[in-house]
Amino acid sequence: MLNTERLLCERVLFVEQLRIRGGVPLSGEIAVHGAKNSSLPLLAATILGKSQSVLHNCPRLSDVDAAIRILSYLGCAVERSGDTVCVDTSQLTHFDVPEDLMREMRSSIVFLGAIAARLGKTRISFPGGCELGPRPIDLHLSSLRALGLSIREDHGFLDCEVNGRLKGATISLAFPSVGATENILLAAATAEGTTQILNAAQEPEIIDLAEFLNACGAKISGAGKSTVVIEGVEELHGAEHTVIPDRIVAATYLCCAAATGGEILVRRVRPDDIAGILPVLEQTGCRIYTGEQSVYLKAPGQLKPVKSVRTMPYPGFPTDAQAPVMSLTALADGTSVFVENIFENRYKHVAELARMGADIKVEGKVAVVSGVRTLYGAGVDATDLRGGAALIVAGLAAEGETVVSRIHHIDRGYEQIETSLRSLGAQVERRPG
Ligand code: UD1
Repeated sequence: MLNTERLLCERVLFVEQLRIRGGVPLSGEIAVHGAKNSSLPLLAATILGKSQSVLHNCPRLSDVDAAIRILSYLGCAVERSGDTVCVDTSQLTHFDVPEDLMREMRSSIVFLGAIAARLGKTRISFPGGCELGPRPIDLHLSSLRALGLSIREDHGFLDCEVNGRLKGATISLAFPSVGATENILLAAATAEGTTQILNAAQEPEIIDLAEFLNACGAKISGAGKSTVVIEGVEELHGAEHTVIPDRIVAATYLCCAAATGGEILVRRVRPDDIAGILPVLEQTGCRIYTGEQSVYLKAPGQLKPVKSVRTMPYPGFPTDAQAPVMSLTALADGTSVFVENIFENRYKHVAELARMGADIKVEGKVAVVSGVRTLYGAGVDATDLRGGAALIVAGLAAEGETVVSRIHHIDRGYEQIETSLRSLGAQVERRPG
C-alpha cells in the first residue's frame, strides 16, 4: 500500500466510532482469536528461517497488518488466507525498517534482534514514546550489545552491525521485560555458543515464541521460567505453527459479561493463561467454571468490590487487564483499589470513565474506585488499546448510549469487536463519525 493510501485509510479509521446502547445482559458463547502479542514476535521470527513459515490463528488486527508491512518491505513474500499467514523469507532485499513503519507500532522493536541475527546489520528508527508513557528500550539495547551487536544511535535511528555471528552471553535482566526477552531469544537462536537469560519474562507469549523457534531448529529450554537457556545453532528453517489464544481478549469478554449481569462461555481460551485474572473476577461475585479450553462466567446480581489489584509480570495480574477490570469495579457495591506497577501512564481511561459517572481517584500508581449504582452513556475517547476496551465494558453496562471515538486504538487488538459483541446480544454498531 502506498503511503498516501495508508494515510487516507488512517483518516477514515480515525473518525470511526462505536455506538453502544447499554443495559443488555450479554449471553452466549464466543471463541477467542489468536494472540496479538504472540503474533508480532512470531512474524518477526519468520525472518530467521530463510524459507517459508506458516502461522495459523493469526488475528486480523491493525498491529498484525503493520508487522506484515514490515516483512513485505524487507522483501518477504507474505500471503494471508483467513487466519493463516504464509511468510517466505528466502529473499530479503532490505536490512532497514523505515521510520513510518516503525512508528505504526511501538512493539516493532522486536524486529531488531531478528534482522540483526539474519543479516548482520540493520538500521531502524527509535520507536519513541507511546500512549502508555515513555517505554524505554534500554534493556533491549544492552542485551543485544551483550550478544556482540554494535549499536550506534544516530539522530533517532539505531545503526546496528555485527562482524560475523552474534555471540552467546549470560544476560541478567533488571526487569523481566517481555519485549527484551523476545529480542534476546530472536538474536541468540543463531548466535555462536550458549546464551542464558536470567530474570526472563515468563509470559505465555514467550513460550509460544520459543516453541516456534524450536520447531524451526532452535535449541531453547526453560521458556516460561525465569532462566532460559539458548544453545545457538548455525541456521534455522521455516516451520508451521498455531498462535496461542489471546488471553487479554478472553479476559475482556469475561468483563463485558460480568459488567452487564450476563452469562458467557468463552471458548478457545487457555484458563491457565488467565489464572491471575480469574480470582479477581470471582472476588466481584462472578461464578466461574473452567474447562480444558473454555471459561464459563455467570455474573452476580450486584458486583462486589475487590480488595487490591496489583499489576505484576506473569503469572501476576496483567497490566493489560487492569483497565477492563476497573470498569467492572466502577459498578461494585464498595471501594476497590488498583496499583499499576508496570506502566507509569496507564490510567488515561479514568478521565473517560468519569464522564460516564464513575468515581475514581488516581494518585501516582494507585487508583481508588468507589463503586456507583449506575454509569451513564456519554461521548468518550479510546485513549489506548486496553483503555478503549474498558470504555466498551462500561458502555455495555451503562444506561443510555455511549459513543466511543478514536477506536483505531481498539482495532489494534480486537478483531471486529462489534461483531463479536453483537453475537452475545449487545447493541453495538460501528459508524463513521
Ligand atoms: C508487552 C506487551 C504489552 C504488555 C507488556 C507488559 C507486546 C507487543 N506488548 O509490552 O501488551 O502490556 O508486555 O506485560 O507483547 N522497560 C524498560 N526498558 C526496556 C523495556 C521495558 O524500562 O528496555 C519497562 C517498560 O517501560 C515497562 C516495563 O519495563 O515499564 C514492562 O515492559 P515490557 O515487559 O518490555 O513490555 P513490552 O514488551 O513493551
